[in-house]
Amino acid sequence: MRSQNAAKRLDVAAPTPSPPSQAQPAKLSVAGLTVTFPVDGTHRTVLEAIDFECHEGELVCLLGPSGCGKSTLLNVIGGFLKPTQGQVLIDGAPVTGPDPRRIFVFQERGVFPWLTVEGNIGFGIQHLPAEERRQRVAHYVEMVGLRGFERAYPAELSGGMKQRLEVARALAVGPDMLYLDESFGALDYITRHNLRRELLHLWATERKTILFVTHDIDESVQLANRVVVMAARPGRIQRVVDIDLPYPRDISSARYLRYRDELLEELGLAHQR
Ligand SMILES: Nc1ncnc2c1ncn2[C@@H]1O[C@H](COP(=O)(O)OP(=O)(O)OP(=O)(O)O)[C@@H](O)[C@H]1O
Ligand SMILES: [Mg+2]
Repeated sequence: MRSQNAAKRLDVAAPTPSPPSQAQPAKLSVAGLTVTFPVDGTHRTVLEAIDFECHEGELVCLLGPSGCGKSTLLNVIGGFLKPTQGQVLIDGAPVTGPDPRRIFVFQERGVFPWLTVEGNIGFGIQHLPAEERRQRVAHYVEMVGLRGFERAYPAELSGGMKQRLEVARALAVGPDMLYLDESFGALDYITRHNLRRELLHLWATERKTILFVTHDIDESVQLANRVVVMAARPGRIQRVVDIDLPYPRDISSARYLRYRDELLEELGLAHQR
């Protein structure tokens, strides 16, 4: 039986992620980014003067209330939307459109219902020789705990399994960056907890640079090495908080709770005395 303390930790059954080096040039650099949308004959500013950087191997959470522009920001970074002003650089080069090396993971949106688990995971790597492809598919099936379900279709899987399948499919392509937009939001508590643990495991073993959009404070403190706190109307960066906690994170520790309180305060949700 697991001890009570172990149960409170978000275990990472892998090498503990080391803090990314801030000395290297930025992997991602967002500078002076503004997005306006035409609404009722005028322009609505949705994002205003966004500046931040992300280093190789970081797991950064974009945290903020509904409507503050998190998805819009991720869409600009992903090359799906052109900013009105400012620019996004990845590895020093401007982002001009979607790039297959950078993968989006949405909530249950991406798996192909007509393909099996194996078919889905192998979809983006059809250019590889058959044996290499088979090995890579098997590796990711194992990594996300879908062994035994290789021939199953998405309709036969639970919501959490489909989500893991989507993460596996994204990783099989070997992306150098991963963008997750509220990817675990619609799942039940236990599945969410397990997927966070798996994401940290993947992060520790694969060292991808990950941008994770969430409005869940606990999720951000459990996952991120840095939290970019956003505010709404217009969407902007309010503060960037470094989460200086070792992994696995003890969600009952005083330091964890202090970060949680700090973010609650930042979002204006702390208890009023
Ligand atoms: N194409 C569009 N035209 C006009 N307004 C838009 C468009 N897309 C988004 N918006 C507005 O931009 C704001 C930010 O939207 P966005 O989807 O980025 O928020 P979000 O932080 O991801 O919210 P949520 O947490 O609910 O997903 C919202 O007020 C939204 O109504
Ligand atoms: Mg959104």
